[in-house]
Amino acid sequence: MESTLIIYSSTDGQTKNICSRIGEFLSNDIPAKIVSLSDATKDDIEKYDRVIIGASIRYGKHRKELFEFIEINLDELTKKNNAFFSVNVVARKPEKNTPETNPYMQKFLLKTAWVPQKLAVFAGKIDYPKYNFFDKQMIRFIMWVTKGPTNIKNTYEFTDWNKVDSFAKELIS
Ligand SMILES: Cc1cc2nc3c(=O)[nH]c(=O)nc-3n(C[C@H](O)[C@H](O)[C@H](O)COP(=O)(O)O)c2cc1C
Repeated sequence: MESTLIIYSSTDGQTKNICSRIGEFLSNDIPAKIVSLSDATKDDIEKYDRVIIGASIRYGKHRKELFEFIEINLDELTKKNNAFFSVNVVARKPEKNTPETNPYMQKFLLKTAWVPQKLAVFAGKIDYPKYNFFDKQMIRFIMWVTKGPTNIKNTYEFTDWNKVDSFAKELIS
């Protein structure tokens, strides 16, 4: 049984929720450690057999801290069993929900020297009531343009939890 470190880069918590679900799946014997990108260290990575990083998209981008972290820790990361997943709402569309077809995953792979062993793309969540005025208007506009839901009184979870479980299963196969 391998030990697992799961690192999340998340603003509103959905990527962290996905990490927790993967962690539960992998934690039969050794509990997975889940840590935010801002708290994760090189020492943490060295202690684990497997490292998974999950990161969400905001305004078209993964955070710059994600790329900085990967660059600083590239050697340690590549020595481990490793995987990366991206969380965004474009991935709610079936034609954009695989690593090959999701534009943010493709941009990520072009921007980093890391070649993760396993990749996944998960659709995230739109939680209108939680957003500030500006973000609410912006995401609503993005949703309108992409024919998504625009009722700002509602929360829309697009995450396919079966797909998350399948990815977790794939990590230990
Ligand atoms: C202000 C804002 C901007 C966003 N921009 C994008 C975007 O450009 N493309 C996209 O696919 N999803 C976008 N999203 C959707 C997020 O990726 C989605 O809400 C995800 O679940 C966020 O993950 P987190 O809760 O871990 O931060 C945006 C969400 C917010 C609130």
